[in-house]
Amino acid sequence: MQESIKSILENRPALKAEIDKVAEVAGYLWQRGWAERNGGNITINITEYADDEIRTLAPISERYPIGTTLPALKGCYFFCKGTNRRMRDLARRPMENGSVIRIADDCAHYEIIADRAVKPTSELASHLSMHNQMIASGNGYKAAIHTHPIELVAMTHHAEFLKKDVLTRLLWSMIPETRAFCPKGLGIVPYKMPSSVELADATIEQLREYDVVMWEKHGVCAVGPDIIEAFDQVDVLSKSALIYIAARNMGFVPEGMSDAQMNELKEAFNL
Ligand code: 13P
Ligand code: ZN
Repeated sequence: MQESIKSILENRPALKAEIDKVAEVAGYLWQRGWAERNGGNITINITEYADDEIRTLAPISERYPIGTTLPALKGCYFFCKGTNRRMRDLARRPMENGSVIRIADDCAHYEIIADRAVKPTSELASHLSMHNQMIASGNGYKAAIHTHPIELVAMTHHAEFLKKDVLTRLLWSMIPETRAFCPKGLGIVPYKMPSSVELADATIEQLREYDVVMWEKHGVCAVGPDIIEAFDQVDVLSKSALIYIAARNMGFVPEGMSDAQMNELKEAFNL
């Protein structure tokens, strides 16, 4: 098994553009303080860029189990952050800190095909389960992000905020943008072992209803048409969390926009 010498991105500007977006977002995660050490992970579905040459590339790793079987992923290709790799390194050198994988025909295994044999993120079961569901739903989404935003994670340490839609309503009411640009709000997954299939299953359960899912005392997952839009959802929610905390720090409980004001937005933006 030999590692490929030239990058899979060479002469593939459309694929490179998507990887550039991953690198851009990885830089934001580090700058925001959401990506301590190797914290967080990103995957994107790049199947549409898999030309005949990519499809015949020999694997550069053994076949690894996904841990679960995901029928909608047959013949799919993904770019994945490497496990234990730093976001700040992914930002500067994406192809050294992530890799392209091919899903095996049994939909339960994968192999690495480019550029280097960088083992994908430990949260691969969650990421691939999210992609499987996105493909099955036909929503056209191609990106999944998991990150550790400080304030949003802090909020999951409070039982009241873990009740269905309590955090959604609170965060929506802090600033109109959040109501408009995170229109489905956020789902909650009670604490589960990181990287487990149980966490993956609980995540996709919430994903039926929401585009953003909080993992109690751990982090957040978001999906979107591309990685920039997935990041944006976490960004607006985080902004709301910061406004809430700023108000509490100034010694008062923020009033929040009224239901009427939020409904007005819902109608105006067709949400
Ligand atoms: P990886 O380095 O394996 O991607 O793990 C980071 C993380 O946030 C686990 O939840
Ligand atoms: Zn994590």
